[in-house]
Amino acid sequence: MRSMNRPSARAASIRRLSAAPVRRLSRQGLALAAAALLCGVGAAAPALAQAPEAPAPPTPGDGLAATPPMGFNNWNSTHCEADFNEEMVKSIADLFVEKGLKDAGYEYVNLDDCWALPERDADGELVPDPERFPNGIKAVADYVHGKGLKFGIYTSAGTKTCSDIGFPGGLDHEYSDARQFADWGVDYLKYDNCNNQGVDARQRYTTMRDALKATGRPILYSICEWGENKPWEWAEGIGESWRTTGDISDNWDSMLSILKQNLPLAEHAGPGHWNDPDMLEVGNGGMTDTEYRSHFSLWSVMAAPLLIGADLREAGEETYEILGNKEVIAVDQDELGRQGTVLSSEDGRWVLVKEMADGSRTVALFNETGEEQQIGTTAQDAGLPEAASYEVRDLWEHRTDTGDGTLSATVPAHGTVLLRVTPSS
Ligand code: GLA
Repeated sequence: MRSMNRPSARAASIRRLSAAPVRRLSRQGLALAAAALLCGVGAAAPALAQAPEAPAPPTPGDGLAATPPMGFNNWNSTHCEADFNEEMVKSIADLFVEKGLKDAGYEYVNLDDCWALPERDADGELVPDPERFPNGIKAVADYVHGKGLKFGIYTSAGTKTCSDIGFPGGLDHEYSDARQFADWGVDYLKYDNCNNQGVDARQRYTTMRDALKATGRPILYSICEWGENKPWEWAEGIGESWRTTGDISDNWDSMLSILKQNLPLAEHAGPGHWNDPDMLEVGNGGMTDTEYRSHFSLWSVMAAPLLIGADLREAGEETYEILGNKEVIAVDQDELGRQGTVLSSEDGRWVLVKEMADGSRTVALFNETGEEQQIGTTAQDAGLPEAASYEVRDLWEHRTDTGDGTLSATVPAHGTVLLRVTPSS
């Protein structure tokens, strides 16, 4: 059954990508280090009926996502393929610990679509696919918890999930499904938008919010309605994050298109309520390492959820180095919770600035073009006060220089130089 279903599930996911271009650029094998030279700063079950009394009014974030969620989700690497199974999920939890990713802040190990059987049981309960999860979902959640990590699951705010196979969705089953998730030990729910029967999005997502709250278990709630109903205008206090776009795919044009859709939404993000430009593709092989460093830098500057989308069992050292860069992760996880904004973007030479809790600014010099470019700004244009000198930390080169506040670099094609700038005292 599964092999028959595989292509259709993939086709469905590709169809939903229609807004995002899918041209794959050839690998360019660029060495970022070679060109990141700083100038001016030195080098550098009809269960609705079971609804209990209305839950208490929500506290935005409920403390669950004071900083953007970090973790793993299998979708970008496996889709519905057979290697999405218990063994994979447990291995990811092991690798989070062994490879230092847990220490770096990655916390949630999340299942995406295709974990269930297509039919509910006679009691209206969801049934885990016994081929993929022979010991059930709770056993996997227990394993993940045993590693000091948290566990997430997926369903859709519709009658069926997004895969063409059509796994059961949560619409009109919100309270019983949420109860099942809580009983399994789920800490995170991604709630998708397929097969929604035209029911108002705000209503659908609010009902599941209430159902999750009614379980009494803290469950981070990730709204996935692809930005169709402008969730940034209404979902604060409902979910801890909301997707702002259609699905990402593992190529430069897709990443760029999503970046450009998510950047203008900066004012809507903050602690407990994050714009979600979709999961990371770093390590999946469709972009160069230079491009993946840009992807990771830009998602961090945008205070995006950082959900690893690569099968870490197959990841090379470069992938671990990118995903494990604690200085870049600190940008994403900064407690002020600001999403970075665009200072300039002339001819594909982008300067993005993120205000940080300690008063410093993170400045991304991002080269969208296919040629090396000189990209620059100044500390004062980035919002810092006048100072005799500035400390400039290059977050990929791990080098600090002192300069006069001129921030400029030769940035390779598709590269990003990421600087954290602090006035010297
Ligand atoms: C939608 C979501 C994706 C993924 C798939 C699963 O396309 O946006 O992130 O969850 O469904 O079918």
